[in-house]
Amino acid sequence: MRDYYCGEVTETLEGQQVTLCGWVDRCRNHGGVAFVDLRDREGIVQIVIDPNKVNLPNNNQLNYRNETVLQVTGQVNLRPDGQINENIATGKIELDVNAVTILSEAEPLPMQVNDMTDVGEETRLRYRYIDLRREEMAKRLRFRSKVTAKVRNFLEENGFLDIETPMLTKATPEGARDYLVPSRTYKGSFFALPQSPQLFKQLLMMSGFDKYYQIVRCFRDEDLRADRQPEFTQIDIEASFVNESDIMNLAENMIRSLFKQALDVKLPESFPKMSYAEAMERFGSDKPDLRNPLELITVDDIVENSGFKVFSSPAQAEMGRVAALRVPAGASKLTRKQIDNYTQFVGIYGAKGLAYIKVNDASAGREGLQSPIVKLLSDEELAAILDRTQAQTGDLIFFGADSNKVVANALGALRLKLGEDLELLQGDWAPLWVVDFPMFEEEDGHLQALHHPFTAPASLEELKNNPQEALSRAYDMVLNGYEIGGGSIRIHQEAVQQEVLKLLGIDEATAKEKFGFLLDALKYGAPPHGGLAFGLDRIIMLMTGTDNIRDVIAFPKTQTASCPLTSAPGTTSVEQLIELGIRVVRDNKAVVGEN
Ligand code: AMO
Ligand code: AMP
Repeated sequence: MRDYYCGEVTETLEGQQVTLCGWVDRCRNHGGVAFVDLRDREGIVQIVIDPNKVNLPNNNQLNYRNETVLQVTGQVNLRPDGQINENIATGKIELDVNAVTILSEAEPLPMQVNDMTDVGEETRLRYRYIDLRREEMAKRLRFRSKVTAKVRNFLEENGFLDIETPMLTKATPEGARDYLVPSRTYKGSFFALPQSPQLFKQLLMMSGFDKYYQIVRCFRDEDLRADRQPEFTQIDIEASFVNESDIMNLAENMIRSLFKQALDVKLPESFPKMSYAEAMERFGSDKPDLRNPLELITVDDIVENSGFKVFSSPAQAEMGRVAALRVPAGASKLTRKQIDNYTQFVGIYGAKGLAYIKVNDASAGREGLQSPIVKLLSDEELAAILDRTQAQTGDLIFFGADSNKVVANALGALRLKLGEDLELLQGDWAPLWVVDFPMFEEEDGHLQALHHPFTAPASLEELKNNPQEALSRAYDMVLNGYEIGGGSIRIHQEAVQQEVLKLLGIDEATAKEKFGFLLDALKYGAPPHGGLAFGLDRIIMLMTGTDNIRDVIAFPKTQTASCPLTSAPGTTSVEQLIELGIRVVRDNKAVVGEN
């Protein structure tokens, strides 16, 4: 039906007759001649419809409602001087039309493609097919397709096989809730949609497919944030007979080559590695944004005997911490009101306050400092704090004093907020590896896997003797403050896997019921193996410069995990519920599906 995309018609086609199809982006009428911006996924071209030259359909009507779909044939002419638009690829030409066919007339629209001011996200998602006609949306999806193709090329060239794994399966513990699918044939039983293909990719290693990949949908029912979706896509990778550096090198090479090919960005030859402990200590986060120069500095030893109990108690507590965050030139930049706002902000993360010191004159001792807490600290303490934080005249120092966790969360978040508010970020891209994660974290007296329960421990000795402190062979790739990928070397010995499950409080019977197939497989010839998974959506989000993961997914879910377009999730008929053997409970009462 057409010769070219609208966005592809340039001056190289001057004088030629071409047929185009597209949507009316805008139609202007000048002295009886219609100037229409015709748009398709590749861009916009200006077409000129002069009723004297064209047999018009539709009673000679020259006004096309926006988003009407046209087929036009005409001659590519250079635009008259003064009408050239340098901003678009087709800006030097226009199409002098001699035939128009209306392929589909559009009714008045619920939202305008060329003017998104005041359109809420709910409306955009409800009419997503219209939203996706917008250039910036189309551009991101085109980019995503290109990147996916490059990922496949890269992995295929490196000998990886694309193997599909089941969507209807058993729960894989990745720390979220499962999406369940009821079984009709086994009433009362449920499949879980995979949180990741973790166990299947490990089984594939035991099958001898020693280099596997899959660009695969994963499902997690968890609290959503700007960088999380309930269904999202992983670039999932696993290989046998490898150690950490094999996988990390492969992953780094892949990311470097994607950035080079797709963005012409040269990432560092080798990504820096930082231990989890160091990341938490210096940045209060296991995914630090290294473009931000601010750092948390521990001052426990300085204030542990202070008369200021707010500081000395957490400084003395085993799991407590007092940390300083120095903001260069913050004394003049931050107003009292801003400091109050930051105090409220850290409250969200559980901080009970936000002490600060303004350094008006670093050489004047106590007299040079301005703060509600100066009078509570001794001269020695104040001097030691200035020295430790290397405070200069004009700086402001914030303090967090609480449990390790609260200090990391509160000052970690404050660090990011200050970086943004004060425009402190340096450089465009800061990738790194975070390594040496603990095997477990303690929650309510129970050990939980920090990654997943199949991650190998760094030392069997340590795992047995001191599990709380044991490190794992896991690694995360972090870019600009986002965890874009994570993985580990896995446990390939049944006894070790049993031991880890035991430490997680999973008894033998439960282990057998949940993971018996894996435990068996580990007995029948399991090679050492490891891998990782990238979050494709997050990578595309960063590469396309948006901070909203929904912008890079064609049909995403809302923040409350629903789809305004299809109205999913929806109710179902009583018949279907009965067929599936399901009763629906509301307010703890079965209300539908009862038979
Ligand atoms: P993990 O749980 O770290 O590891 O997931 C890997 C990567 O997937 C991305 N990701 C998400 N992206 C969008 N929305 C979500 N809800 C979401 N959850 C995770 C992140 C993350 O780094 N099986 C292991 C991998 C392995 O060990 O090989 C796993 O799933 O970018
Ligand atoms: P208070 O003694 O509670 O009046 O607090 C004195 C100063 O310390 C105030 O500026 C508080 O914001 C700050 N502050 C109180 N608790 C904490 C805390 N846990 N961490 C950091 N600063 C705090």
